[in-house]
Amino acid sequence: MSNETTNLFSNFKIGNMALKNRLVVAPMTRVSAYEDGTAGPLMKDYYQAFAAGGFSLIITEGLYTDKHFSQGYKYQPGLADETHMESWKTITEAVHKAGSKIIAQLMHAGALSQYNKYTGQSAAPSAVKPLGEEMTFYYGNGEYSTPKEISQEEIEDVIAGFVHAARLAKEAGFDGVEIHGANGYLLDQFLTVYTNKRTDRFGGNLANRLNLYKEIITSVRHAVGAEFILGVRFSQGKVNDFEYKWPAKEADARYTFEYISSLGVDYIHTTEHVANAPAFDGHLSLSELAKTSADLPVIANGGINQEKDALKLLNAKKADMLSIGKAALANPDWPNLVESGRQLNEFSFEMFNPIADLRTANDFLRKNHA
Ligand SMILES: Cc1cc2nc3c(=O)[nH]c(=O)nc-3n(C[C@H](O)[C@H](O)[C@H](O)COP(=O)(O)O)c2cc1C
Repeated sequence: MSNETTNLFSNFKIGNMALKNRLVVAPMTRVSAYEDGTAGPLMKDYYQAFAAGGFSLIITEGLYTDKHFSQGYKYQPGLADETHMESWKTITEAVHKAGSKIIAQLMHAGALSQYNKYTGQSAAPSAVKPLGEEMTFYYGNGEYSTPKEISQEEIEDVIAGFVHAARLAKEAGFDGVEIHGANGYLLDQFLTVYTNKRTDRFGGNLANRLNLYKEIITSVRHAVGAEFILGVRFSQGKVNDFEYKWPAKEADARYTFEYISSLGVDYIHTTEHVANAPAFDGHLSLSELAKTSADLPVIANGGINQEKDALKLLNAKKADMLSIGKAALANPDWPNLVESGRQLNEFSFEMFNPIADLRTANDFLRKNHA
C-alpha cells in the first residue's frame, strides 16, 4: 500500500460533479418544513451556512417522495409535487452561489412513519410492528403502529414516487439524488430478514431483498439520465435497532455493494456508529468493504468529529469522502475552522431538546456559541 497522504482539502469528482474538498454534510431530518411539506423559512439559511462554511457537498435531510405512505414525520419536507419542488429552488441557488453542491436525499419511511398527512396508516414489506418507540424529538409518542403489508401494486407506486421525486429534484436545481436505503426505513425494511417475511420476488434471499433497491435505482437512472448524480445510502444499525448487524456479515456486505455498483449508481454512502471501526469480526470497516467490493466513490459517515478521524479514513483509503452530522450542526463552518486551525465547538443534544428542529437549534446556538 502506498503511504501517500490525501489532504481533506484536495479536489475530488463523483461522476461529473467536481468537488473542492472531501467534506460532506450528512443528511439530517430537521422537521422544519411547513405542514404541507414545502421548505420552511429557516431552511435556506441553514443549508447556505454549510456551503459558506466550506463543505463541498451537502446531502439534504430525507425528503418524502409521494403522497401515499412515504411521509415519516410531521413538518418533514417533501419532494412529491411542484409546490415542494419550487420551494427548494431558492435553497439550491443559495448553496450554489456559496460554492457548494447539493444532493436531495429521497426517503420512504415505511413502517417507521410517525405521521402522514395523506393517509392514516403505515405500509411496509410485512405487517411487523417496529421495535422500539417513536422519536419524541420528531413529535412522536409511544410505540409504533403495526404497518399493513404493502401490495405489489403499491410497490409500483413507491417506485413511481422515487422517480417523480428525482425528476423534481433535477428541476429544482439539485446536483443529484441519494436513495435512502439505510437506518431502518422502507428500503432497509426490505433488506432486513425480520421485517421482510414476503414470499414474492421482494422477499426471501438477499438478491430478492435487494429487488426494491434495484427497481428504484434503475427506474430513477432511466428517468434522470446518465449525467445526474445518483447515490445510495446503507447502514447496518437502524434508528429503532442500533446494534443490528447484517446476518452473513462480510459476505452480505460484499454481495450488496458489488450488486448495487453494477446498477449504475455514482457513489455509495455508508453509515456506522463509528466509521473507522470494524463492521464485523474482522478488521474492515463498512466503508472499506464498500470500497473494495465496488469500483465507486465511497462516502463514510459516523463519529467523524475531528480532523484526525477524517484523515484516518482517507489515508487508509477506507473512504473517498467523509460526511459529518452532529459535529456539523455545532460547526456549520467545520471545514473552514479545521483548515485555519481554529477550535471546534462541542455538539450538545440540547440542540434537539425538546424538538430537533431549526428553531430549537438556533436558540441554543444563540445562547451558547455567541
Ligand atoms: C437530527 C438527526 C437527523 C437525522 N436525519 C437523517 C436523515 O434524514 N437521513 C439519513 O440518512 N440520516 C439521518 N441522520 C443520521 C446522520 O446522517 C448520521 O448518520 C448520524 O448523525 C451519525 O453521524 P455523526 O456521528 O457525524 O453525527 C440523522 C441524524 C441526526 C442527528
